[in-house]
Amino acid sequence: MVNLIQHNKDARVLEPSSGKGVFLKNLENEGFTNISAYEIDNSIGNEYNYIKYQSFISSPLDPYDVVIGNPPYIRWKNLEPELKDELATSYLWNKYFNSLCDYHYIFILKSIEQLTEGGELIFICTEYWMNTTHSESLREYMVNNGYISDMYHFKEANLFEDVCASFIIFRYVKSNNKAKNISLYKYKQTNTPSYEELISHTCFERIIIPQFESGKRWLLATKEEQKQLYTFELKCRKESTDLFIKGSLDRIGDICDIGNGMVSGLDKAFNVSSLDETTEYEKSHIINVLKAKDLGHYVYSSESRYFFINDSINEDEFERLCPNVYRHMISYKEDLNKRYKYGKDTNYWEFVFPRNFKLFSRKEPRIMVPCKERISNKNYFRFVLASHDYSPLQDVTCLLKKKHCRESIEYLTAYLNDHRVFNWLRYNGIVKGAIVEFSETPIASIPYRKINWEDPKEVEAHNIITTSLQQYIQTKSDKYLNEINKQFDYLFV
Ligand SMILES: C[S@@+](CC[C@H](N)C(=O)[O-])C[C@H]1O[C@@H](n2cnc3c(N)ncnc32)[C@H](O)[C@@H]1O
Repeated sequence: MVNLIQHNKDARVLEPSSGKGVFLKNLENEGFTNISAYEIDNSIGNEYNYIKYQSFISSPLDPYDVVIGNPPYIRWKNLEPELKDELATSYLWNKYFNSLCDYHYIFILKSIEQLTEGGELIFICTEYWMNTTHSESLREYMVNNGYISDMYHFKEANLFEDVCASFIIFRYVKSNNKAKNISLYKYKQTNTPSYEELISHTCFERIIIPQFESGKRWLLATKEEQKQLYTFELKCRKESTDLFIKGSLDRIGDICDIGNGMVSGLDKAFNVSSLDETTEYEKSHIINVLKAKDLGHYVYSSESRYFFINDSINEDEFERLCPNVYRHMISYKEDLNKRYKYGKDTNYWEFVFPRNFKLFSRKEPRIMVPCKERISNKNYFRFVLASHDYSPLQDVTCLLKKKHCRESIEYLTAYLNDHRVFNWLRYNGIVKGAIVEFSETPIASIPYRKINWEDPKEVEAHNIITTSLQQYIQTKSDKYLNEINKQFDYLFV
């Protein structure tokens, strides 16, 4: 990071949260002579006598040519009361942020505020703020006051002991003139990089991406990739004469009810797949469930049977009505009673959080997807079609069609598995390192390609996709997937 500095060695350099002084040591070794530093924790002893042991947040707005460091990343709710009180009196915090923002936002913004024209900010921090809603004001401030010249994206590489997060290093220049492009260095490895690998850049793949712009998402995608995303979204635009609606996108949330799966609290106690004998009453309280590990490409590969009861019965009744399940469950009783119960008085034979059970009780086919999917070693998601007999467990999210949706559930499943949706989610979804999240909100935000039912060719494409998926599920023959792909190519030209 010190090597990224382009200013001369006499530049005024600030380390706003210097800790043990890792940056100070390297700055000095590289010959920088005019260094200032803040650190709030005066119990961290070190040899740098210029460190001011006070908070950077309320430090004077002195000008600097370079700000470099590793700011503290703390969620508002985890901040100590004194730090919250200090923020409450901070003009910059109150102007740009609120209690949904992270502590390091103010470190970035105040540092830029203090940079001279052409000044450089070089920080290492987590990547999340680049696409969350609450950090929009920070991103806007940044694009309006300068540009990013370099960004190093480490995905899930293990950079710090005991910290599991996805890190970036960025070099930002405060300037009225913006560079057109950003050099993006994508980390190619999964292990901790060595000093030599970092300095020689051999652990990175370098790509050029367009400069971030005001009012637009920060996409870590090349110009060509951005064009593809734009073309995809263009086909998902709402048709309307209403100017407010025209141009906005149809989304999966408009046509699907979405819910996260049910939480038993102790799966092995509820899994009764191995019970040989069951009474009629027990049978009526056994459901088929799918977990993330059961989900394959379009189809599920395994399943389990779980005991699920909603009736209010007491323990004697449970033992009498469900003798086989009772015998299976009783050995787990102690652990079942220790489950986290979401503040409710749950009996040990009941799920702790049936969550969207009502939604899953609808007698309709549904689509299931793992709540989280690692995409480092695959280029598809696992959206799986299942009949109404199947309910999702906690690591699965489930989609059911809303009444007004005319397209078939097969069309929807095929659509969600299409490579264009995969690509869109890679850049626009909630991606942490190489893990894509599929809870309700990110799924609801996926743009949706509706069928124009007035257009016979589109109707035909829809019908071919529907029957091809049915055939694929029966035969697993790739020729049906190729056909589906061909039809989506047509719908997206
Ligand atoms: C992630 S550590 C980084 C330390 C150092 N820059 C390094 O890389 O080793 C963040 C540091 O910020 C300090 N800190 C937290 N709040 C601060 C504040 N308001 N002003 C100055 N330092 C602060 C913490 O005590 C901690 O030492």
